[in-house]
Amino acid sequence: ATSIPIAPERAQPQREVPTSLDQCRRCTLWENATQVVAGVGPAQARIMLVGEQPGDQEDLQGLPFVGPAGAVLQQAMQEAGVDRDSIYLTNAVKHFKWEPRGKRRLHKTPAQREVAACHLWLEEELKRVQPQVVVALGSTALKSLLQDGSATMTSMMNDGHPAPVQHDGRWVVTVYHPSYVLRAPDEAARRQAYGVIVEGLRQALQLVG
Ligand code: URA
Repeated sequence: ATSIPIAPERAQPQREVPTSLDQCRRCTLWENATQVVAGVGPAQARIMLVGEQPGDQEDLQGLPFVGPAGAVLQQAMQEAGVDRDSIYLTNAVKHFKWEPRGKRRLHKTPAQREVAACHLWLEEELKRVQPQVVVALGSTALKSLLQDGSATMTSMMNDGHPAPVQHDGRWVVTVYHPSYVLRAPDEAARRQAYGVIVEGLRQALQLVG
């Protein structure tokens, strides 16, 4: 009998917990990323900041928030009196998702299934660090933290100000993503978005007492 060649199949998404983050194949984003970008910060940080996903610079350096959005965040933290070395900084998705545009790698928003696949790692960080306050930087982080794909930024704001909520025994403060400040259409929008980030960071400081 002739044997029928079996087409090599694409790896199935892993259902079990991968042994380490850099071995994670729960979605396919690792394929085009340089490396995984894990969270950084003290083991017992009281405040955790969660971004969306690493950008171009973060992907190359292997550290979160070291590119242009990181510079905005750094400035906002300084203004709010938040010491970068005392907080834990991470992302909802740990690999850079991008598409080529000429010679540049353009950021692509992760799909909800990719956010869901990576949630396991955020959960692990929350369990390990046990922050009292988590600051969601933008909508992707918010959705992952609340485990609710329909959560919106507006629902976490009150009259244009961040409105902290309790979730899973900790505070969640939601602010704009720092790259939103960079993309804002005019100076007024930029100032407003930046002001919300500073205000949310100040609230986080107050909430930890
Ligand atoms: N944007 C993010 O959300 N995270 C980073 O680490 C860098 C840019």
